[in-house]
Amino acid sequence: MKIVKKGLPEHVAVIMDGNGRWARQRGLPRTVGHRQGMKRVKELIETAVKAGIKVLTLFAFSTENWSRPKREIVLLMNSLGAYLDRNIGELKKNDIRFRVIGRTEQLPSFLRVKIKSAQEHTKANAGMALVLAFNYGARQEIVDAARGCARSVQAGTLVPEDIDEEEFRTHLYAADLPDVDLLIRTSGELRISNFLLWQLSYAELYFPKKYWPDFCNEDLFRAIKEFQRRKRRFGGIDVDEKNN
Ligand code: IPE
Ligand code: IPE
Ligand code: MG
Repeated sequence: MKIVKKGLPEHVAVIMDGNGRWARQRGLPRTVGHRQGMKRVKELIETAVKAGIKVLTLFAFSTENWSRPKREIVLLMNSLGAYLDRNIGELKKNDIRFRVIGRTEQLPSFLRVKIKSAQEHTKANAGMALVLAFNYGARQEIVDAARGCARSVQAGTLVPEDIDEEEFRTHLYAADLPDVDLLIRTSGELRISNFLLWQLSYAELYFPKKYWPDFCNEDLFRAIKEFQRRKRRFGGIDVDEKNN
């Protein structure tokens, strides 16, 4: 499948869901599903770069995922560590700027070190921004941004009347990134699960049935094509209707 560059979504966000069910369906432990899912992550990143996506945000661990069994949490943390160990070179080669959004201060120190190093090593890259939402929750992000505003007011650099959308946005975790254009959630679940609530305001939503470990390049292209067919109005009316 070929992708037309015109009307490409600038920012694609993905809720990578269904690893556990993918494994269970095969009589395998959930952990096998996560391993398989990681392979797809690598593939998706390369494909997104080639397609010309500017920002790719991947939801890998939510603030609610701490309620899972300890061994699963450990595996997810270790998988990110291993991914960073093995792929910094590849990220650099592809000119990808890597960063993590979420409450990273609550992550184990071994992971914080690796995240910091990966961000440092790729910060001068000018190609695609790869954003990993890890220990991320959108309500927490909004609360943290509100605290940021409050701190500025307390410091005397901001007055409450100047807190508008533009100001508030500067206190979000990745303030410089554009809103999400296309949100993909795999596995057939029709919910947002506390992901990017601010940034998704006018995103186009796409819910393929496939579990994440089965989501291939063609599926990404299908999602992009569907996006290109949609008419976004942002509260207005279609251009071709304006004279009627
Ligand atoms: C992966 O899918 C997403 C993560 C939270 C890592 P799940 O682990 O949620 O898989 P299902 O939804 O139980 O099938
Ligand atoms: C959302 O998936 C979080 C990630 C993909 C990291 P979940 O599987 O945790 O969401 P729920 O519990 O089905 O809403
Ligand atoms: Mg799930």
